[in-house]
Amino acid sequence: MRETARAVDTAQLLRQVSIFADLSPEVLGDLAKRVSHKSAEAGSVIVSQEEPGDSLFMISSGKVKVVLYGETGREIILSILLAGDFFGEMSLLDRQPRSANVVAVEDSQLLSLDREGFQTHLNAHPTTALAVLAEMSRRLRHADEVIGNLALLDVYGRVARIIRDLAHKQGEQVDGGLLIRERPTQQEIAGLIGTSRETVSRALNDFNRRGLLEMQGKQILVRWGFLRKMDDAA
Ligand code: CMP
Repeated sequence: MRETARAVDTAQLLRQVSIFADLSPEVLGDLAKRVSHKSAEAGSVIVSQEEPGDSLFMISSGKVKVVLYGETGREIILSILLAGDFFGEMSLLDRQPRSANVVAVEDSQLLSLDREGFQTHLNAHPTTALAVLAEMSRRLRHADEVIGNLALLDVYGRVARIIRDLAHKQGEQVDGGLLIRERPTQQEIAGLIGTSRETVSRALNDFNRRGLLEMQGKQILVRWGFLRKMDDAA
């Protein structure tokens, strides 16, 4: 009885994984039977680059970052993943070592699925495979865009682009523009665009001074004028 209740709860959690939102109750039920619950404390390493990997993880709450470390320890952030995202699928699919490190930024609750569970589920339910492929395709598009931005934009342009993307992705429409309630830290933005925290701080302060955005604690109000300028430049 307890197991059944847990499977129902887990299926509900899985429905929050954005790519699985449209899967049928039967498919989610099958997936729910195969996952186990894990937690990761803020700062802990969930996946280490170059290690063999045999699990995929879905985030039910919290926040993680996908990072590479340079020789001097400099951090390059490939992506920040939130509740509803998944990671660890690449090693399951190509049997190569983990392509990057995944570190919990906040205390996080995860659902993990091992290789056998993943394969058995995908064989029986190809719609899940299509959902995973669609997300991988979205990530490749994003990586293409980042490569283009690194080559074509200066640092201020890259900071501006990331603020615009965040505003469109998670901004709330308010008087004057789009409000990002919880922006990444300046260090995280620096890691995402390959520059230093000081440069990000300088660019944000400059945009602030020019009235293009308004920063207050973790919030940024991105003004319509800023968004229009960015859209015109795109
Ligand atoms: P895997 O290689 O098994 O382990 C590291 C994980 O990080 C990888 O699977 C992906 O899930 C995730 N990952 C790697 N590169 C990116 C990226 N550019 N964007 C988002 N996630 C990524």
